[in-house]
Amino acid sequence: MNTRDKAWITMLFICNYILTKLNLLIYMTKIFLLKILTKIFLPYILEVYITKRERMIKMRANTIVGQVARGDKFFKRDIEIEKILRQIEGGRNILISAPRRVGKTSLMSYIKENPPKDYRIIYLNTESVNSGNEFFKKLLNTIIREFESLKKYTVSIKKFLSKIDGIGKDGVTLSDKELNYFFELIDFFEKLNLENEKLVIMIDEYAQTVQNILKNEGKERAVNFLQMNRELRQKDFTKSIQYVYAGSIGLENVVSKIERTNDINDLVSLKVNPLDNEETKGLINQITKDSGLVFNDDVINYIITKMEWLIPYYIQILVDEIDQMKSKRDVAVVIEKEEIEMAFEKMLEHRTYYSYWHERLRSLNKDEYNFAKEILNFVSENDKISSSEIFNVSQKYSMDNVDYKEVLNELKHDGYLNNEENIKEYKFNSPILKVWWYRNVAN
Ligand SMILES: Nc1ncnc2c1ncn2[C@@H]1O[C@H](COP(=O)(O)OP(=O)(O)OP(=O)(O)O)[C@@H](O)[C@H]1O
Ligand SMILES: [Mg+2]
Repeated sequence: MNTRDKAWITMLFICNYILTKLNLLIYMTKIFLLKILTKIFLPYILEVYITKRERMIKMRANTIVGQVARGDKFFKRDIEIEKILRQIEGGRNILISAPRRVGKTSLMSYIKENPPKDYRIIYLNTESVNSGNEFFKKLLNTIIREFESLKKYTVSIKKFLSKIDGIGKDGVTLSDKELNYFFELIDFFEKLNLENEKLVIMIDEYAQTVQNILKNEGKERAVNFLQMNRELRQKDFTKSIQYVYAGSIGLENVVSKIERTNDINDLVSLKVNPLDNEETKGLINQITKDSGLVFNDDVINYIITKMEWLIPYYIQILVDEIDQMKSKRDVAVVIEKEEIEMAFEKMLEHRTYYSYWHERLRSLNKDEYNFAKEILNFVSENDKISSSEIFNVSQKYSMDNVDYKEVLNELKHDGYLNNEENIKEYKFNSPILKVWWYRNVAN
């Protein structure tokens, strides 16, 4: 190798060296620039993404479907609340009647949490209670639990508790073996010194209890149970103790079946109505507040016309469907009529939302059930049924005059049918229930 070649090779090495260094420099610069860009922009990108997600999460309608509406989920129904409070403050015993899902329990819960001055309110649900003694035991337990933590009642509670072994998981256990909780309850009330306070005992699903007793223990026990409750309402201490009975099945219907209407004729009967148009607007506005769902008046009126029977439950379900349809929103969206149509269709896909109504009919005997089913099938197909057609169907099931009218009354009470427009013609209250029945039961 001559000197020239050597010089060339050296040159090549040097060039290679410089190029490698240059590459490294470019690579480093790239990394540096990337770092700077990431530092500047990533937080911004993340923030945009997170706030979008946060907004999406925050933008939820405040709906509640099925459970008791409490706190900020409760829409204050002034008319109904006022109606109940007026009777309570007037010292009456009340029977609240309304079909399923109209909002009875939610109203009672609101009144319990916001009682009138000097009133203490106790609530219990006796749906699964099957005997009179179990009923009075549950009542006594609930009352003792309410009072035992209150200092001003210590003396009266102690007087009563002195003969009690203790309060176990299962509630109060009294020393004697065979206990008659009805008498224990009376004894307790006699020892209880309420001073200026008044006690209101709210018993939810009371009619169901009467029905359970009727089914499990027979008519005599059911009659006896009604009489004991009446006696309780008429004792001396009653001036400061009042009762509010409620339930989704009609107490009047159950009681008239066993011809004991007299046993409840001291109760003031209050009907909880569906919402009116203004309340419907109020409820929709309340549950969609800050949710990014905009229901303008036109659309709300469209809902009102389509829904007809404006029970809070259906409104909650409808808004919930819209909320889910628009779950990806992070800015306000105006709801259109077509979307309401879609939501109505989606509402009907939930079998369980409406099966309460159907389940309720299962407590009828076979002929009564088949009669009721045929009537409802007919109305779901033909929009209405006349009294004479109803009579004809009743003959098919060889039901006498009283029987079929009682079943018809139950269908009215349970919220299926009404004959308000024309006394001789029955229609579904709710187009939703009608379509649901047509699709799921009739066909
Ligand atoms: N005041 C209210 N505010 C908001 N939603 C309500 C209100 N009342 C009822 N609802 C709606 O209706 C549903 C049923 O309410 P609630 O349980 O109070 O009715 P109910 O008449 O006691 O029903 P059931 O006959 O089945 O016992 C609730 O889950 C809620 O969706
Ligand atoms: Mg209820």
